[in-house]
Amino acid sequence: MTVTTATTGLGEIERGGARVSVDDKAMINCRADVNQILPLKYHWAWEKYLAGCNNHWMPTEVSMQADIALWKSPDGLTADERHMLKRNLGFFATSESLVANNIVLAVYRQLTNPECRQYLLRQAFEEAVHTHTFTYICESLGLEEGELFNAYREVPSITEKAAWALQYTQHLEDPNFQTGTPEADQDFLRDLIAFYVVFEGMWFYTGFAQILSLGRRNKMVGIAEQYQYILRDESIHLNFGVDVINQIKIENPHLWSAAFQEEVRQMLTEACELEVAYGRDTMPNGILGLNAQLCEQYMHFITNRRCAQLGLAPVFAEVDNPFPWMSELMDLKKEKNFFETRVIEYQNGGALAWD
Ligand SMILES: [Fe+2]
Ligand SMILES: [Fe+2]
Repeated sequence: MTVTTATTGLGEIERGGARVSVDDKAMINCRADVNQILPLKYHWAWEKYLAGCNNHWMPTEVSMQADIALWKSPDGLTADERHMLKRNLGFFATSESLVANNIVLAVYRQLTNPECRQYLLRQAFEEAVHTHTFTYICESLGLEEGELFNAYREVPSITEKAAWALQYTQHLEDPNFQTGTPEADQDFLRDLIAFYVVFEGMWFYTGFAQILSLGRRNKMVGIAEQYQYILRDESIHLNFGVDVINQIKIENPHLWSAAFQEEVRQMLTEACELEVAYGRDTMPNGILGLNAQLCEQYMHFITNRRCAQLGLAPVFAEVDNPFPWMSELMDLKKEKNFFETRVIEYQNGGALAWD
C-alpha cells in the first residue's frame, strides 16, 4: 500500500485489517486507517469540533437595519470611516475563501488524523458562513460586488498579504505533493503557519479591532455583531492551528530545528510588516480611537503572542496591548449576560450585547 492510499482514506479496503489502537495514530504520515475516528487520540481536536458546533450562527440572524440607515445617511460615517470599512470588507470578503480553499485543497489531505479532519470539516463550514456574511453585508448595504470581491486583486495592501500567504500553499495543492520527507513536512508546517497563525491569527485581528472599534461607538452595529461571531469562530481556528503545529513538533522534533525556528520568526516579522502597511493604507488619517500607529503597536503585541504560543522567542520588544477591550470582547462568551440568560460557554443562539 502506498502512503497516498493509506492517508486519503479512499484507497482499497484492507480486508481483515487490524483494529486501530490509539498508539497507531499520528498527525502526519500516519498509516493507521483515517476512517476510524474512535478511539480518540487528540481529545483537544474533538473538543474544538464540539465548541464550533455549539457556536453555530448565521449572518442573516443579525439585523442590518441600523447599518443600512447609517451607511445611506450622508453624514452617518466620516469619509475616513467609509474608506476603512470598505478596505476592511474587501480584505475579509476573499480572505475567507482563501482560508477555506487552503483547508480543503491543501491541509485536509496532509493531516492524517480523523479527529483533526473532523474539526477541519467543521471549520470549512464556518468559513462558508463567514463568506456568506460578506455576501449579506454587500447586499444589505448595496455595495459594488466587484469592488468588494475583487479588492484582493486591485488594492495593493490587500494583494500583498494574499500573495504572501499563497506562496506557502501553491505547491501543496499539487496532487503529487505528499509529506514524508523533512523538506515536505516543513513545507506543510509553513503552510499551517502562514494560514492559521498569520492569516487567521494575525491579519484578521487588526480587521476585528477596526470594526469592533466602530461598534463600540455605536456605528455599524450589525456588522460589528457579525464580526464578533466571526472572531469567536476564528479564535478557535487559531487555537486549533497552534495545537496542530505544536503536536506535529512533539511527534517530529527534527522538523523544529533552530534554523527552522528562525525562519518562522522571520515569517511572522514579514507578516507583521505587511499588516502595518495595510493599517497605514486603510487608516491614512486615523479615526476616533484607532489609527495606524496603534494598529502597529497592536500587531507587535499580537506577533509576540503568536511567537509565545509556538514556543518561539519574541520578535519585538515587550509592548502593551493598546486595545485591551479586544480581549474583553473575546472573553464575552464567559460572561453571564453574553447569551442573556445562560451562563454556559459555547451555546448557540441569542444576540451579542454591547455593554
Ligand atoms: Fe473565517
Ligand atoms: Fe477561520
